[in-house]
Amino acid sequence: MEALRPRAGGRYADGTAGGGGHAAALLRASAPSGKLFGCDRDGAAVRAARERLGEFEGRFEIRQGSFAELGQWIEAGSCDGVVLDLGLSSAQLEPERGFSFQSDGPLDMRMDPEQELTAAALLNQAGAEELAKIFWEYGGEANSRRIARAIERERQIRPLGRTRQLAELIEKVSPRGGRKAHPATKAFQALRIVVNDEMGHLQRGLEAAVKILSPGGRLAVISFHGLEHRLVKEFGDRLSRDYEAGEPDVPELRRPRPALLRWVRRKPILPGPAELSGNPRSRSAQCRVMEKL
Ligand SMILES: C[S@@+](CC[C@H](N)C(=O)[O-])C[C@H]1O[C@@H](n2cnc3c(N)ncnc32)[C@H](O)[C@@H]1O
Repeated sequence: MEALRPRAGGRYADGTAGGGGHAAALLRASAPSGKLFGCDRDGAAVRAARERLGEFEGRFEIRQGSFAELGQWIEAGSCDGVVLDLGLSSAQLEPERGFSFQSDGPLDMRMDPEQELTAAALLNQAGAEELAKIFWEYGGEANSRRIARAIERERQIRPLGRTRQLAELIEKVSPRGGRKAHPATKAFQALRIVVNDEMGHLQRGLEAAVKILSPGGRLAVISFHGLEHRLVKEFGDRLSRDYEAGEPDVPELRRPRPALLRWVRRKPILPGPAELSGNPRSRSAQCRVMEKL
């Protein structure tokens, strides 16, 4: 709220409406005339958010869909603030959604249950090489090849279908050792990112957010793991430069253009002790803030 500075009459967008917590805070702080546009990929979250926001009837519009599409229904240059609070909501960690290795459920992992691709389909159809690449690139999993080969062997006996089946298989070939985290943590994270194409949506979502912001409008992004942190930093760095660079960046070949953003907080805002004790899942959260020029 400090970063977005909501005010009466302002227009705000919440690309990750979830349970409606941020949306409610934005509507409260922008009373009596602030307007909120919200979306979530998950239909259940959209219903929960609409219900939570009942008291603000007439001041919000919530749609099901990805934040990558914000620019398709919100007027360009029209918003004073956008928030993206990435990752999963507590409601999505229920066993039947298939994200959690701590309890048994179907290997689903879809944020949008209408999407076709599930984690089970990916695990049963992808080649071992592709699976190893997924675990390594999106989970930083050092045992990626061993896990991928074990999956290939297992599915010749019976298809992968349950989260516990996968978690136990990973534990067998990749024992816990002295690590605090469960050995399946990284592989589960990698699968979730790929099933939902989270990095693709984030890249397009950041671009859409900048498009709908008005000059002076702010974007706050709360990210939860290294790949997200890096993508947000690289995006902010690129748009706050006054030139377009090639790959690799050769100074003589840079094409000048005005900077599109400035960093308000590149060094992230981190959860304080009170937040951490009340909301332990906030421990990896980093909030970065940019302002459209
Ligand atoms: C951490 S929760 C957000 C909680 C919310 N800020 C609140 O106050 O209740 C993340 C939410 O973002 C949604 N989400 C993740 N990626 C998305 C995307 N690309 N587009 C829209 N929603 C997305 C998830 O479905 C989930 O409901």
